[in-house]
Amino acid sequence: MKIVLNKLNFDPKEVEEILSRYATDLQNCRNSLTNRLKTDPFGAVVVKYFEGGKMFRPLLVFITTSALGGRPTEVIEVAEAIEMLHVASLIHDDIIDDAAIRRRTTTLHTQFNINTAIVIGDYLLFSAFNVLNSTQAVFTADKVLAASNALSNYAKLCCRGQLEELLCEPETDSEENYLSIARNKTGSPFAAAATLGGILLGGTDLEISALQSYGFNLGIAYQIYDDMLDLTGDSQILGKPVSNSLMLERPILPLIYLQKYGSQSVRKEYRRLQQAGYPRLQVVALLEQQGIFEQVSKVQEKYLAAALTALNSLNASREVDLLRTLALFATAR
Ligand code: IPE
Ligand code: IPE
Ligand code: MG
Ligand code: MG
Repeated sequence: MKIVLNKLNFDPKEVEEILSRYATDLQNCRNSLTNRLKTDPFGAVVVKYFEGGKMFRPLLVFITTSALGGRPTEVIEVAEAIEMLHVASLIHDDIIDDAAIRRRTTTLHTQFNINTAIVIGDYLLFSAFNVLNSTQAVFTADKVLAASNALSNYAKLCCRGQLEELLCEPETDSEENYLSIARNKTGSPFAAAATLGGILLGGTDLEISALQSYGFNLGIAYQIYDDMLDLTGDSQILGKPVSNSLMLERPILPLIYLQKYGSQSVRKEYRRLQQAGYPRLQVVALLEQQGIFEQVSKVQEKYLAAALTALNSLNASREVDLLRTLALFATAR
């Protein structure tokens, strides 16, 4: 079942252009991560997770850096640090969400145990900062310090988003809450990926804030789509479980809308599905019938439009065009 939320079209040729332009940089990033992990005692265990991701965040590092006139080869370590933080957050997220599969591989806490997975996640978090700090070989110490500070703040925001989600109560779930969670847990790592190269290159405040806004807004749109895939996607293709939000009763936008706008009988039907163990297809059918996906789609488009508008503050270039395409592709893949 495929429901694409945003109707904002992109040119598939530009997606191919992105993938071919940055293929070598992405490969270098992967290779470098693998080489680093090889020397770690548990490296072999986590290497699989680094091989299986879509690498959107490293790609963001490369294209945003290029958009400000830098070279991707200068920021391979930055892309690595961002991916390490992302993988660490996934390891911890899978413990929290009780997920057995990630990137088509059995999750660490399922393979070993929760304690081991927590510590490996922590190890990757700190390693990410080591890797970022090693860019002092290329950039000045003040720029590296600024980048490292920015990354700490974005990482803290990501934790805040995860906490906000954990502290949610089904009775008080609101659209506002949901958007704050999405902005923090997913928008902040995207904002980090979009700005770190610029900070290191000495980009202007205007450029950094444009890229930050692009990252946050794209992250929200990305999370809206990820939650949608949890309802409608295929776990074999996604390489992770589906129906998680339903089973964990997470406050995702379609369900918030169903409670908010659904008639009494629709809400009653939803409660019936709840008691029946959330049959996914029936939940989706109910949402479709109520036109909920159109409403969600409008919200996603609003955040995508904000991401694209933010790019208007940058000097026009092919890389900026590609950032637009990447945003549309990432949220409708
Ligand atoms: C998963 O991110 C977590 C979310 C914020 C939705 P991705 O969908 O980018 O996962 P990988 O990196 O490809 O595994
Ligand atoms: C994604 O969490 C955000 C982080 C990992 C910080 P989700 O729980 O929404 O993402 P998936 O669906 O497990 O990838
Ligand atoms: Mg989660
Ligand atoms: Mg999860």
